[in-house]
Amino acid sequence: MIAKVADIGVTHVKCTPVEVTLTWENSAYSVYPAIWLRDNDPANRDPRTGQRLISLLDFPREPRLRGAEAQPPGQLTLSWEDGPTSVFDLAWLRAFDRSLRMSHRPARLPWMGHPATAFARCDFVEWIKNPASREDWLYYVGRDGLAFLSDVPVEDGAILRVADLIGFVRETNYGYLFDVRSVPEPNNLAYTSRALPVHTDNPYRDPVPGFQMLHCLASAGEGGESIFVDGLAIAERIRAGDSDNFNALSQTPVLFRFQDAVADLTAERTMIELDARGEFRAIYYNDRSIAPLPFKGPRLKKYYLAYRQLAEMVREPDRLVVCRLEPGDLVLFDNTRILHGRTAFSSGAQHLQGCYLDADGLYSSLAILARKRNAEHDGRH
Ligand code: FE2
Repeated sequence: MIAKVADIGVTHVKCTPVEVTLTWENSAYSVYPAIWLRDNDPANRDPRTGQRLISLLDFPREPRLRGAEAQPPGQLTLSWEDGPTSVFDLAWLRAFDRSLRMSHRPARLPWMGHPATAFARCDFVEWIKNPASREDWLYYVGRDGLAFLSDVPVEDGAILRVADLIGFVRETNYGYLFDVRSVPEPNNLAYTSRALPVHTDNPYRDPVPGFQMLHCLASAGEGGESIFVDGLAIAERIRAGDSDNFNALSQTPVLFRFQDAVADLTAERTMIELDARGEFRAIYYNDRSIAPLPFKGPRLKKYYLAYRQLAEMVREPDRLVVCRLEPGDLVLFDNTRILHGRTAFSSGAQHLQGCYLDADGLYSSLAILARKRNAEHDGRH
């Protein structure tokens, strides 16, 4: 988007050899270190792809500025002691300073239990034909970790018409698509009529599938309701209330494992995963595939206490979303955040068809939809 000139006016430029300070028209100011400016000189990016053409070793260890002026209009021209000049768009510098962490992902908002109607739901035909509806829906998938579609054709493989507009299907040893229904000799308890306590899928995989989609082709006569819980809200509650338990769950790796006749999958990870800033990144919780805990003594005792708190919280009734998927319903959820499960079914033959999707492809689709909408919006002015 093009910022208005009034938004990017500079009233004062202060330059020392090691930094530039720009004072904006509203009196706010931004400081840009010389090394950062040199590293991000627009001349060193390919104009078509935006990809960098240089490495850190292509400029001095401590580049020094000779001067800076807000010329030509809307731009900042820098001269350097070792020779070159650099020209930056003021709009780019301003925008960057306002959001130092560039991210296309919606902020995740934790939630407690709600009726399923509180989450985004869109009609399949509308979703397919209207990019704005897809963008909104994917935004809510990112924000809440959970969204529904209605009236998806009740046909084998129809789920791929949705998947293809979101990103890339992640194929696994369960196949490109998998069918969740009771079968005579299941290799997984999902393929029975038993209740499935809430869990995240496949913590034994590396990497873990980012999103899961399930499309209902037939519903159980009785039972078989789907359950969803927000692992982010649980992790933050534990962090706020019991730091010992939070540290155990976020700092102690445990092993997850899946074995059948043709696959032997193992991965070691903490049940709560934090990013480098200490913020929640993921939860991995699966009673069925956790291996025997690999420690002893006080550490084991401490871990069991933390694990128990987590196990209790994922079952707390006021955290649950319980809903019945009817034929044609489709649910997409963030498998690194939302735990899912189902109640037992005693009659009928529930049939869900599912697939996994990589998170990067989903967020890329959301960013492209937003980019196209912005381009159309700018074109109208
Ligand atoms: Fe599952």
